[in-house]
Amino acid sequence: MGRVSLGILASGRGSNFQAIVDEIEAGKLNASVKLLIVDNAGAYARERAKRHSIEHLFLDAEGFPTKEEFFSRISEEFRKRGVQLVVLAGFMRVVRRPLLDAFPLRIMNIHPALLPCFPGLHGQKQAVEYGVKLSGCTVHFVDEGMDTGPIIIQAAVPLAPDDTEESLSERILELEHKIFPEAIRLFSEGRLKVEGRVVRITGHRVNGEAIVNPPLS
Ligand code: GRF
Repeated sequence: MGRVSLGILASGRGSNFQAIVDEIEAGKLNASVKLLIVDNAGAYARERAKRHSIEHLFLDAEGFPTKEEFFSRISEEFRKRGVQLVVLAGFMRVVRRPLLDAFPLRIMNIHPALLPCFPGLHGQKQAVEYGVKLSGCTVHFVDEGMDTGPIIIQAAVPLAPDDTEESLSERILELEHKIFPEAIRLFSEGRLKVEGRVVRITGHRVNGEAIVNPPLS
């Protein structure tokens, strides 16, 4: 596919957005960010965009008569700039039809748990409270459900007995910053084949990537 044009959606801190920009600037990811849209005026992601001279836009969902119109506007802004892949980098909303229809299997999200476990908010807290021994993060294509789309890459994190939501979140975030750019790289190399809800990665022996950090001994 060559250089892939990205449209990023974020609501907050934007560390995943930063990780993607860093990989691009290091020449490790053949992509360019055409536009960052935030739905929260105070999102720190905007500061990051400014620092890297990336075009950014704040759209207030409350200013649109319906959520559908909000998402139509987003898709219009991305299309105008030739966006090929939409990246949800900490975007705290369920994506509605107009955007899904404009970018079928062209929207990726990162979730801080091993889906289908613990979808929705506070995946790390849910994992700690449930007492699972492994959690992690998932990059998936977005469909109309809540964190239900075809899974592209997952990375696992073993839980320590004294883990808290904060300590687990920190370790998971480290891996988020690795697998999100990696998923975009695979997309840009045309290596993601979606069959039903299964994503096959061409050139991989296993169906996807498995990273466990720290390794299980
Ligand atoms: C991350 O934990 C991500 O998995 C979730 O929202 C958080 C966003 O963090 N979807 P950041 O804004 O990228 O720092």
